[in-house]
Amino acid sequence: MAINAGILTLVGTLIIIAITKWLIGSTRDSAPGEAVAPKIYGMRKAYFAFLSIAILGSLFASLRGLPYSPPHNAEPAYQVAVTGKMWMWEVTAMTNLADHTPVAALPQGALVEIQVTAEDVNHGIGIYNEAGEILTQTQAMPGHPSKIYHTFTAPGTYHIVCMEYCGAGHPVMNSVITVE
Ligand code: CUA
Repeated sequence: MAINAGILTLVGTLIIIAITKWLIGSTRDSAPGEAVAPKIYGMRKAYFAFLSIAILGSLFASLRGLPYSPPHNAEPAYQVAVTGKMWMWEVTAMTNLADHTPVAALPQGALVEIQVTAEDVNHGIGIYNEAGEILTQTQAMPGHPSKIYHTFTAPGTYHIVCMEYCGAGHPVMNSVITVE
């Protein structure tokens, strides 16, 4: 692995040296700034227009679905309510939606609706598996509840971590959810 990375770095460096040599060799006939300025400004305008269209287009495509619905409009089978506050995540309810009974753990393979809010300041909720891989995340905002949906595919202890800097206790703002 380390040898592969070394070879890649060496090859990349040689390519950059070759491109640099070619650029130096091909720019002997330098033109005065005033001569190339109109062309450069034109390119800059075109680039600005391209970026504006790309950004506005992707914003339109991604934001028009808000609020995001459950995957394939499936009905969630379980519901979890989580409140963030300085500096802890409180799981205030875990409910089986079939009979509205509280549960101590979530089953694997069931679609879970996670309701997220915050009591004091903005936090960010991230849910990680035991391998430290992030599964889902969203903002936790006072007065603006959010919903995310997730199906846990394996039993285990899942970690709820704060993902937005919220003060001195931010690094220890962790909790867990059990899936069985
Ligand atoms: Cu809560 Cu960082």
